Amino acid sequence: MAAQSGIQTRLQSQGGPKSIIDLVIQEHRLQEQLYDQFQKSRDLKEKELCMYRMIKEISEHGAKEEMVMYPVMKKKLPDGVTLVQRALAEHLQVKQELFIIDQMALGVHPELEQRLHKLMSDVMQHVKEEERELLPSLQKVLSEGELLDLGMHYTMAAAKAPSRPHPDAPQEGPMAEAINIQAKTEDALRDTARGLEKTPAILSGQKPASYENELKRGDLHGGLDKAAYEQTGVPGSNVQAMRQ
Ligand SMILES: [Fe+2]
Ligand SMILES: [Fe+2]
Repeated sequence: MAAQSGIQTRLQSQGGPKSIIDLVIQEHRLQEQLYDQFQKSRDLKEKELCMYRMIKEISEHGAKEEMVMYPVMKKKLPDGVTLVQRALAEHLQVKQELFIIDQMALGVHPELEQRLHKLMSDVMQHVKEEERELLPSLQKVLSEGELLDLGMHYTMAAAKAPSRPHPDAPQEGPMAEAINIQAKTEDALRDTARGLEKTPAILSGQKPASYENELKRGDLHGGLDKAAYEQTGVPGSNVQAMRQ
């Protein structure tokens, strides 16, 4: 176990509860994989599906972090308010750009690929900050049970997370979740036309490679220990108490 984690985690079989750290990192890797696939593909339809899937994954991921993870970070981390303010500002910047991209079409708007490249560069910078600073800090201050409980709430928040960017919606506060739920319903209707349910495995949520392979990809994991990357035990304390 890495010295900086300060928690004990235990390995469990596939399919059990997951820590919020595992879940967030998995989604980061999926975003990268989708963009890799977008860049490699020479098929316009496949590229379009990659782009639609990226819009959906980035939008849902950001909303789940804002609803579940950032409120806990704000309360529990030293300098949490400052760190979360910076993260929210970066989310807003991504949403504003994604909102423009979401209204463009490949083969129609020649600047689209360049905009997408710039967007993903910003997303990857944000991911790096989360994985080097925010997630290791969260791992230090929460127990194993709390990380699992938070993971459960993070998973459940998918039901409230809009699949399109909404830069004008509140990112936090009492109205944020209600507005997210309304937006998600409208987004789901619009998404049906995009045919995302027909996407191949890589586009429909393929699991990332092993921790060792992930480390070989670069140093994005920073201070996260291997045990915390694996599936762990039973949900513990009440996440609502952490968010208050
Ligand atoms: Fe984020
Ligand atoms: Fe993230």
